[in-house]
Amino acid sequence: KSHIKEVEAFQSEDLQQIEEFRIKYLGKKGLMNDFFKAFKEVPNEEKKEFGKTLNELKTLATEKVKELKEALENKQEEIGVYGDLTRPAEPSEIGSRHPISIVKNQIIEIFANIGFNVSEGPEIEDDWHNFTALNLPEHHPARDMQDTFFVQRDPKDILLRTHTSSVQVRYMEENQPPIRTISPGRVFRNEDISARSHCIFHQVEGLYIDKKVSFSDLKQTLLYFTKQLFGKSKIRLRPSYFPFTEPSAEVDIYWGLETETDYRITKGTGWLEIMGCGMVDPNVLTNCNIDPEKYSGFAFGMGIERIAMLLYQIGDIRMFYENDARFLEQFKSSI
Ligand code: PHE
Repeated sequence: KSHIKEVEAFQSEDLQQIEEFRIKYLGKKGLMNDFFKAFKEVPNEEKKEFGKTLNELKTLATEKVKELKEALENKQEEIGVYGDLTRPAEPSEIGSRHPISIVKNQIIEIFANIGFNVSEGPEIEDDWHNFTALNLPEHHPARDMQDTFFVQRDPKDILLRTHTSSVQVRYMEENQPPIRTISPGRVFRNEDISARSHCIFHQVEGLYIDKKVSFSDLKQTLLYFTKQLFGKSKIRLRPSYFPFTEPSAEVDIYWGLETETDYRITKGTGWLEIMGCGMVDPNVLTNCNIDPEKYSGFAFGMGIERIAMLLYQIGDIRMFYENDARFLEQFKSSI
């Protein structure tokens, strides 16, 4: 009876072990043969019971061997065809977001938290939306500030937008204040490609128009934004010129002078220029059917590449467009 238990419990996936088990029970000099020999010695009244147990044991042992060998063969067959299905799978590659998208989404979220929506517009623009409506009439010298790629010059100018201010024009034409919108997107300028500038890059521009919007609202918004994005909010506004804003300013952030890199990227001053801004020129409001007597507003614009280069300490703008996996893989953990 104890042998029946042993046979029932036996498990193995090793051919050698199974073979040893078979020989132990069913081999010529195996236990079964010993038991059958011993059978003769068993008293007559116990023969029936003993014989039954012996047969049971033999069947069990025979079936066990057959079962285990079959299981082993099936497994080997599977491995032959599919490889070992019980092995852990190859880790699958998960892609990563492009650093430009990561930073763009961060900027969008920061402004969404203070009520800005997102607006988009076409990359191929007409002269009106990219220049004229923005207080840059034909032959205005400031048109040369942004070297333009033209798609068509006659009968009217069609071009690749040089900034996403064109989206703000479209938005104002279709919406009355209060307006709080940011316009992220790709822009194009006919510039030489170098480590610091490219002919294709990305911007986020912002526009806020309502009753009594003042320059101090602009400054508070910029303080909030820089604190959120960089964790620093020491900024300064330098007087500047844009045709579509008056007054206009360039925004610098105090980056510090703690490391070698700080020295290098701030040219030893600790200050870094991050965007342009100003109060929307009344002419622009009029051009877009908004009454400048009733409303005022501010606008700002920044290059996403520039911000991403600061945040991630990227030294060459061309890396954003080369799609080198060694570069892109480094942004895997970011969302
Ligand atoms: N459109 C400007 C540029 O592309 C940036 C800007 C936007 C400046 C809004 C002031 C106000 O350079």
